[in-house]
Amino acid sequence: MSDTHPILEVLDLHVHFKMLAGMVRAVDGVSFAIERGRCLGIVGESGCGKSVTARSILRLLPSSQTSGQILYRSDTDNQPVDLVSLDPKGNAIRAIRGRDIAMIFQEPMTSLTPVYTIGEQILESIRQHQTLSEDEAYELAVSMLNKVGIPDAERRFGDYPHQMSGGMRQRVMIAIALSCQPRILIADEPTTALDVTIQAQILRLIRSLQRDLDMSVIMITHDLAVIAQLADFVVVMYLGQMAEQAPVVELFQNPKHPYTQALLRSIVRPDTPSREQLHSISGSVPDPRNAPSGCRFRNRCPSAHDRCVQDPPVVTFGPRHTATCWLYVDEETGTETAVFRS
Ligand SMILES: Nc1ncnc2c1ncn2[C@@H]1O[C@H](COP(=O)(O)OP(=O)(O)O)[C@@H](O)[C@H]1O
Ligand code: SF4
Ligand SMILES: [Mg+2]
Repeated sequence: MSDTHPILEVLDLHVHFKMLAGMVRAVDGVSFAIERGRCLGIVGESGCGKSVTARSILRLLPSSQTSGQILYRSDTDNQPVDLVSLDPKGNAIRAIRGRDIAMIFQEPMTSLTPVYTIGEQILESIRQHQTLSEDEAYELAVSMLNKVGIPDAERRFGDYPHQMSGGMRQRVMIAIALSCQPRILIADEPTTALDVTIQAQILRLIRSLQRDLDMSVIMITHDLAVIAQLADFVVVMYLGQMAEQAPVVELFQNPKHPYTQALLRSIVRPDTPSREQLHSISGSVPDPRNAPSGCRFRNRCPSAHDRCVQDPPVVTFGPRHTATCWLYVDEETGTETAVFRS
Protein backbone atom coordinates (compact mmCIF):
# COMPACT_ATOMS: atom_id res chain seq x y z
CA MET A 1 0.00 0.00 0.00
CA SER A 2 1.54 3.30 -1.04
CA ASP A 3 0.23 5.27 1.87
CA THR A 4 2.37 8.25 2.70
CA HIS A 5 0.24 9.48 5.58
CA PRO A 6 0.45 7.74 8.93
CA ILE A 7 -2.92 6.97 10.48
CA LEU A 8 -1.88 8.81 13.66
CA GLU A 9 0.84 11.38 14.27
CA VAL A 10 1.70 12.65 17.73
CA LEU A 11 3.65 15.89 17.51
CA ASP A 12 5.43 17.50 20.46
CA LEU A 13 2.88 16.26 22.97
CA HIS A 14 3.01 17.76 26.47
CA VAL A 15 0.64 16.58 29.19
CA HIS A 16 0.91 18.32 32.55
CA PHE A 17 -1.14 18.01 35.73
CA LYS A 18 -1.47 20.95 38.04
CA MET A 19 -1.26 19.59 41.59
CA LEU A 20 -1.16 21.37 44.94
CA ALA A 21 2.42 20.16 45.38
CA GLY A 22 3.53 21.48 41.96
CA MET A 23 3.24 20.81 38.26
CA VAL A 24 3.60 17.16 37.18
CA ARG A 25 5.14 17.10 33.70
CA ALA A 26 4.01 13.55 32.93
CA VAL A 27 4.67 13.83 29.18
CA ASP A 28 7.10 16.43 27.87
CA GLY A 29 7.69 16.76 24.14
CA VAL A 30 6.89 13.32 22.72
CA SER A 31 6.51 12.77 18.95
CA PHE A 32 5.87 9.60 16.99
CA ALA A 33 3.80 8.25 14.11
CA ILE A 34 1.96 5.03 13.48
CA GLU A 35 1.44 3.54 10.04
CA ARG A 36 -1.74 1.87 8.88
CA GLY A 37 -1.89 -1.84 9.73
CA ARG A 38 1.30 -1.71 11.82
CA CYS A 39 2.10 -2.18 15.49
CA LEU A 40 3.86 0.59 17.36
CA GLY A 41 5.34 -0.41 20.72
CA ILE A 42 5.80 2.11 23.54
CA VAL A 43 8.17 0.80 26.20
CA GLY A 44 9.59 2.15 29.45
CA GLU A 45 9.53 1.40 33.16
CA SER A 46 6.57 2.21 35.36
CA GLY A 47 6.07 5.97 35.73
CA CYS A 48 7.57 6.94 32.36
CA GLY A 49 4.34 8.42 30.98
CA LYS A 50 3.15 5.58 28.76
CA SER A 51 -0.43 5.45 30.05
CA VAL A 52 -0.75 9.23 30.08
CA THR A 53 0.36 9.29 26.43
CA ALA A 54 -2.18 6.58 25.54
CA ARG A 55 -5.06 8.19 27.42
CA SER A 56 -4.36 11.61 25.98
CA ILE A 57 -4.88 10.21 22.45
CA LEU A 58 -8.50 9.48 23.40
CA ARG A 59 -8.73 12.67 25.50
CA LEU A 60 -9.41 10.62 28.62
CA LEU A 61 -7.53 13.07 30.87
CA PRO A 62 -9.89 16.06 30.99
CA SER A 63 -8.14 17.64 34.00
CA SER A 64 -4.73 17.73 32.30
CA GLN A 65 -3.13 20.60 30.44
CA THR A 66 -2.44 19.10 27.02
CA SER A 67 -0.57 20.78 24.17
CA GLY A 68 0.94 19.68 20.87
CA GLN A 69 -0.93 17.87 18.12
CA ILE A 70 -2.42 14.40 17.74
CA LEU A 71 -3.36 14.13 14.07
CA TYR A 72 -5.76 11.32 13.20
CA ARG A 73 -6.51 10.49 9.56
CA SER A 74 -9.43 8.07 9.25
CA ASP A 75 -8.66 7.57 5.56
CA THR A 76 -5.64 8.28 3.43
CA ASP A 77 -7.34 11.06 1.50
CA ASN A 78 -9.00 12.71 4.46
CA GLN A 79 -7.81 15.83 6.16
CA PRO A 80 -6.46 14.98 9.59
CA VAL A 81 -8.40 15.80 12.75
CA ASP A 82 -6.30 17.22 15.59
CA LEU A 83 -7.62 15.30 18.60
CA VAL A 84 -5.99 17.81 20.98
CA SER A 85 -8.29 20.52 19.61
CA LEU A 86 -11.46 18.53 20.43
CA ASP A 87 -13.52 19.06 23.57
CA PRO A 88 -12.74 15.99 25.75
CA LYS A 89 -16.44 15.73 26.64
CA GLY A 90 -17.80 16.66 23.22
CA ASN A 91 -19.55 14.57 20.56
CA ALA A 92 -16.63 14.56 18.09
CA ILE A 93 -14.22 12.68 20.36
CA ARG A 94 -17.02 10.47 21.68
CA ALA A 95 -17.73 9.33 18.13
CA ILE A 96 -14.06 8.49 17.58
CA ARG A 97 -13.67 6.61 20.90
CA GLY A 98 -14.62 2.99 20.47
CA ARG A 99 -15.58 3.29 16.79
CA ASP A 100 -12.27 4.51 15.29
CA ILE A 101 -9.87 4.12 18.20
CA ALA A 102 -10.49 1.56 20.94
CA MET A 103 -8.50 0.89 24.08
CA ILE A 104 -7.92 -2.07 26.37
CA PHE A 105 -6.40 -1.77 29.83
CA GLN A 106 -4.24 -3.80 32.14
CA GLU A 107 -6.95 -4.93 34.54
CA PRO A 108 -10.02 -6.27 32.73
CA MET A 109 -12.04 -6.62 35.96
CA THR A 110 -12.07 -2.87 36.57
CA SER A 111 -13.10 -2.13 32.97
CA LEU A 112 -16.03 -4.58 32.96
CA THR A 113 -19.16 -3.76 34.93
CA PRO A 114 -19.79 -6.51 37.52
CA VAL A 115 -23.61 -6.24 37.46
CA TYR A 116 -24.14 -6.92 33.74
CA THR A 117 -23.45 -10.12 31.82
CA ILE A 118 -20.58 -10.02 29.37
CA GLY A 119 -23.10 -10.46 26.53
CA GLU A 120 -25.01 -7.35 27.58
CA GLN A 121 -21.75 -5.39 27.75
CA ILE A 122 -20.69 -6.35 24.23
CA LEU A 123 -24.18 -5.57 22.89
CA GLU A 124 -24.10 -2.17 24.58
CA SER A 125 -20.82 -1.30 22.92
CA ILE A 126 -22.12 -2.43 19.50
CA ARG A 127 -25.33 -0.38 19.94
CA GLN A 128 -23.37 2.74 20.77
CA HIS A 129 -21.60 2.83 17.43
CA GLN A 130 -23.56 0.79 14.91
CA THR A 131 -27.15 0.66 13.70
CA LEU A 132 -28.01 -3.02 13.65
CA SER A 133 -31.14 -5.03 14.42
CA GLU A 134 -31.19 -6.92 17.74
CA ASP A 135 -30.54 -10.23 15.92
CA GLU A 136 -27.65 -8.79 13.91
CA ALA A 137 -26.09 -7.27 17.04
CA TYR A 138 -26.40 -10.61 18.86
CA GLU A 139 -24.80 -12.48 15.97
CA LEU A 140 -21.96 -9.99 15.79
CA ALA A 141 -21.40 -10.22 19.55
CA VAL A 142 -21.28 -14.04 19.51
CA SER A 143 -18.97 -14.04 16.48
CA MET A 144 -16.60 -11.63 18.25
CA LEU A 145 -16.51 -13.90 21.32
CA ASN A 146 -15.71 -16.83 19.02
CA LYS A 147 -13.04 -14.81 17.26
CA VAL A 148 -11.21 -14.03 20.50
CA GLY A 149 -11.24 -17.74 21.38
CA ILE A 150 -13.97 -17.98 24.02
CA PRO A 151 -15.23 -21.56 23.77
CA ASP A 152 -18.97 -22.15 23.79
CA ALA A 153 -19.61 -18.44 23.25
CA GLU A 154 -23.43 -18.65 23.12
CA ARG A 155 -23.55 -20.18 26.58
CA ARG A 156 -20.90 -17.85 28.05
CA PHE A 157 -22.96 -14.88 26.79
CA GLY A 158 -25.00 -14.93 30.01
CA ASP A 159 -21.96 -15.13 32.32
CA TYR A 160 -21.08 -12.33 34.70
CA PRO A 161 -17.44 -11.14 34.74
CA HIS A 162 -16.71 -12.80 38.12
CA GLN A 163 -17.61 -16.19 36.62
CA MET A 164 -14.65 -15.94 34.22
CA SER A 165 -10.89 -16.27 34.65
CA GLY A 166 -8.59 -13.24 34.19
CA GLY A 167 -7.52 -14.48 30.73
CA MET A 168 -11.16 -14.94 29.63
CA ARG A 169 -12.11 -11.47 30.93
CA GLN A 170 -9.24 -9.93 28.96
CA ARG A 171 -10.56 -11.77 25.86
CA VAL A 172 -14.01 -10.25 26.52
CA MET A 173 -12.42 -6.78 26.73
CA ILE A 174 -10.69 -7.39 23.41
CA ALA A 175 -13.99 -8.59 21.89
CA ILE A 176 -15.70 -5.40 23.12
CA ALA A 177 -12.87 -3.23 21.79
CA LEU A 178 -12.89 -4.96 18.40
CA SER A 179 -16.69 -5.30 18.01
CA CYS A 180 -16.83 -1.99 16.12
CA GLN A 181 -13.78 -2.82 14.01
CA PRO A 182 -11.68 0.15 15.14
CA ARG A 183 -8.87 1.35 12.92
CA ILE A 184 -6.55 1.68 15.91
CA LEU A 185 -6.38 -0.50 19.01
CA ILE A 186 -4.49 0.92 21.98
CA ALA A 187 -3.47 -1.87 24.35
CA ASP A 188 -2.11 -0.55 27.67
CA GLU A 189 -0.21 -3.40 29.37
CA PRO A 190 -3.00 -5.82 28.38
CA THR A 191 -1.22 -8.92 29.66
CA THR A 192 0.66 -7.66 32.72
CA ALA A 193 -1.90 -9.07 35.18
CA LEU A 194 -1.99 -12.50 33.49
CA ASP A 195 0.21 -15.57 33.87
CA VAL A 196 2.82 -16.24 31.17
CA THR A 197 0.90 -18.91 29.25
CA ILE A 198 -2.26 -16.79 29.00
CA GLN A 199 -0.07 -13.75 28.25
CA ALA A 200 1.41 -15.51 25.21
CA GLN A 201 -2.07 -16.56 24.01
CA ILE A 202 -3.45 -13.02 24.29
CA LEU A 203 -0.46 -11.54 22.44
CA ARG A 204 -0.84 -14.10 19.63
CA LEU A 205 -4.54 -13.27 19.50
CA ILE A 206 -3.90 -9.51 19.19
CA ARG A 207 -1.34 -10.14 16.45
CA SER A 208 -3.63 -12.37 14.41
CA LEU A 209 -6.61 -10.02 14.80
CA GLN A 210 -4.42 -7.10 13.78
CA ARG A 211 -3.56 -8.90 10.53
CA ASP A 212 -7.10 -10.16 9.87
CA LEU A 213 -8.69 -6.74 10.42
CA ASP A 214 -5.78 -4.68 9.00
CA MET A 215 -5.78 -2.69 12.20
CA SER A 216 -3.06 -0.44 13.64
CA VAL A 217 -2.03 -1.33 17.18
CA ILE A 218 -0.31 0.74 19.85
CA MET A 219 1.12 -1.76 22.32
CA ILE A 220 2.17 -0.26 25.63
CA THR A 221 4.37 -2.30 27.94
CA HIS A 222 7.27 -2.24 30.36
CA ASP A 223 8.43 -5.54 28.84
CA LEU A 224 10.76 -5.61 25.84
CA ALA A 225 9.92 -9.30 25.29
CA VAL A 226 6.34 -8.23 24.45
CA ILE A 227 7.74 -5.60 22.07
CA ALA A 228 9.89 -8.24 20.34
CA GLN A 229 6.83 -10.40 19.77
CA LEU A 230 4.50 -7.76 18.41
CA ALA A 231 5.94 -4.40 17.42
CA ASP A 232 7.16 -3.19 14.01
CA PHE A 233 8.41 0.10 15.40
CA VAL A 234 9.36 1.08 18.95
CA VAL A 235 9.33 4.26 21.02
CA VAL A 236 11.36 4.08 24.25
CA MET A 237 10.10 6.55 26.87
CA TYR A 238 11.90 7.70 29.99
CA LEU A 239 10.33 10.06 32.53
CA GLY A 240 7.90 11.64 30.08
CA GLN A 241 10.37 12.04 27.23
CA MET A 242 11.52 10.01 24.28
CA ALA A 243 14.86 8.31 24.78
CA GLU A 244 15.00 6.47 21.47
CA GLN A 245 12.83 5.35 18.58
CA ALA A 246 13.60 2.84 15.85
CA PRO A 247 12.25 -0.04 13.77
CA VAL A 248 12.12 -3.08 16.06
CA VAL A 249 15.03 -5.07 14.59
CA GLU A 250 17.24 -1.98 14.57
CA LEU A 251 16.40 -1.23 18.20
CA PHE A 252 17.32 -4.73 19.35
CA GLN A 253 20.46 -5.02 17.20
CA ASN A 254 21.78 -1.52 17.47
CA PRO A 255 20.44 0.23 20.59
CA LYS A 256 22.00 3.66 21.05
CA HIS A 257 20.52 5.23 24.16
CA PRO A 258 22.03 4.05 27.48
CA TYR A 259 18.47 3.58 28.79
CA THR A 260 17.51 1.26 25.90
CA GLN A 261 20.77 -0.62 26.39
CA ALA A 262 20.00 -1.02 30.10
CA LEU A 263 16.43 -2.22 29.37
CA LEU A 264 17.80 -4.79 26.92
CA ARG A 265 20.33 -6.06 29.47
CA SER A 266 17.53 -6.47 32.00
CA ILE A 267 15.52 -8.90 29.84
CA VAL A 268 15.44 -12.28 31.58
CA ARG A 269 16.63 -14.89 29.10
CA PRO A 270 15.73 -18.49 29.82
CA ASP A 271 19.06 -19.69 28.34
CA THR A 272 21.38 -17.64 30.56
CA PRO A 273 22.49 -18.70 34.05
CA SER A 274 20.57 -16.88 36.79
CA ARG A 275 23.73 -15.06 38.03
CA GLU A 276 23.93 -13.23 34.69
CA GLN A 277 20.27 -12.27 34.68
CA LEU A 278 20.60 -9.81 37.52
CA HIS A 279 21.18 -6.78 35.35
CA SER A 280 18.25 -4.76 36.58
CA ILE A 281 18.66 -1.01 36.14
CA SER A 282 19.87 0.57 39.36
CA GLY A 283 17.59 3.10 41.03
CA SER A 284 14.03 3.83 39.97
CA VAL A 285 12.12 6.35 37.88
CA PRO A 286 11.72 9.52 40.01
CA ASP A 287 8.50 11.52 40.30
CA PRO A 288 8.42 13.97 37.38
CA ARG A 289 8.51 16.82 39.95
CA ASN A 290 12.00 15.63 40.98
CA ALA A 291 13.30 15.11 37.44
CA PRO A 292 16.96 16.15 37.05
CA SER A 293 17.65 19.09 34.76
CA GLY A 294 19.19 18.34 31.38
CA CYS A 295 19.02 14.64 30.55
CA ARG A 296 16.34 13.12 32.76
CA PHE A 297 18.21 9.78 32.84
CA ARG A 298 21.49 11.25 34.06
CA ASN A 299 21.29 10.20 37.72
CA ARG A 300 21.00 6.56 36.63
CA CYS A 301 23.14 6.63 33.50
CA PRO A 302 26.52 4.82 33.57
CA SER A 303 27.82 7.12 30.79
CA ALA A 304 26.69 10.45 32.29
CA HIS A 305 29.21 13.29 31.96
CA ASP A 306 29.37 17.06 32.44
CA ARG A 307 27.41 17.99 29.33
CA CYS A 308 24.42 15.93 30.45
CA VAL A 309 23.22 18.73 32.76
CA GLN A 310 22.08 20.40 29.54
CA ASP A 311 19.18 19.14 27.42
CA PRO A 312 20.58 16.43 25.11
CA PRO A 313 20.16 16.67 21.32
CA VAL A 314 18.15 14.29 19.14
CA VAL A 315 20.72 12.37 17.06
CA THR A 316 19.75 10.49 13.87
CA PHE A 317 21.28 7.05 13.24
CA GLY A 318 19.31 5.86 10.24
CA PRO A 319 15.87 6.04 8.64
CA ARG A 320 13.46 6.58 11.55
CA HIS A 321 16.14 5.78 14.16
CA THR A 322 16.88 8.56 16.64
CA ALA A 323 18.20 8.77 20.20
CA THR A 324 18.24 11.75 22.55
CA CYS A 325 21.74 11.67 24.04
CA TRP A 326 24.99 13.62 24.22
CA LEU A 327 27.22 10.56 23.64
CA TYR A 328 27.04 10.90 19.86
CA VAL A 329 28.00 14.57 19.55
CA ASP A 330 31.69 15.52 19.36
CA GLU A 331 32.56 17.60 22.41
CA GLU A 332 35.05 19.85 20.55
CA THR A 333 33.26 20.46 17.25
CA GLY A 334 29.63 19.91 18.26
CA THR A 335 29.07 17.72 15.19
CA GLU A 336 27.24 14.40 15.30
CA THR A 337 29.61 11.45 15.37
CA ALA A 338 26.85 9.02 14.45
CA VAL A 339 27.11 7.25 11.09
CA PHE A 340 23.93 7.53 9.04
CA ARG A 341 23.32 4.32 7.14
CA SER A 342 20.81 4.73 4.34
N1 LIG B 1 -4.15 12.05 36.74
C1 LIG B 1 -2.90 12.30 37.13
N2 LIG B 1 -2.62 13.34 37.95
C2 LIG B 1 -1.35 13.60 38.35
N3 LIG B 1 -0.27 12.86 37.99
C3 LIG B 1 -0.49 11.81 37.20
C4 LIG B 1 -1.80 11.46 36.73
N4 LIG B 1 -1.70 10.35 35.95
C5 LIG B 1 -0.40 10.03 35.94
N5 LIG B 1 0.33 10.89 36.68
C6 LIG B 1 1.79 10.86 36.87
O1 LIG B 1 2.38 10.90 35.58
C7 LIG B 1 3.53 10.07 35.53
C8 LIG B 1 3.40 9.07 34.40
O2 LIG B 1 2.37 8.16 34.71
P1 LIG B 1 1.93 6.97 33.74
O3 LIG B 1 1.66 7.50 32.38
O4 LIG B 1 0.80 6.27 34.42
O5 LIG B 1 3.23 6.04 33.69
P2 LIG B 1 3.39 4.58 33.05
O6 LIG B 1 2.10 4.22 32.37
O7 LIG B 1 4.54 4.70 32.12
O8 LIG B 1 3.68 3.68 34.21
C9 LIG B 1 3.66 9.42 36.90
O9 LIG B 1 4.60 10.15 37.67
C10 LIG B 1 2.26 9.54 37.48
O10 LIG B 1 2.32 9.63 38.89
S1 SF4 C 1 22.67 12.42 27.65
FE1 SF4 C 1 24.20 11.80 29.15
S2 SF4 C 1 23.07 11.09 30.93
FE2 SF4 C 1 21.65 11.17 29.23
S3 SF4 C 1 21.67 9.12 28.41
FE3 SF4 C 1 23.16 10.28 27.23
S4 SF4 C 1 25.10 9.96 28.28
FE4 SF4 C 1 23.47 9.29 29.71
MG1 LIG D 1 0.81 2.61 32.74
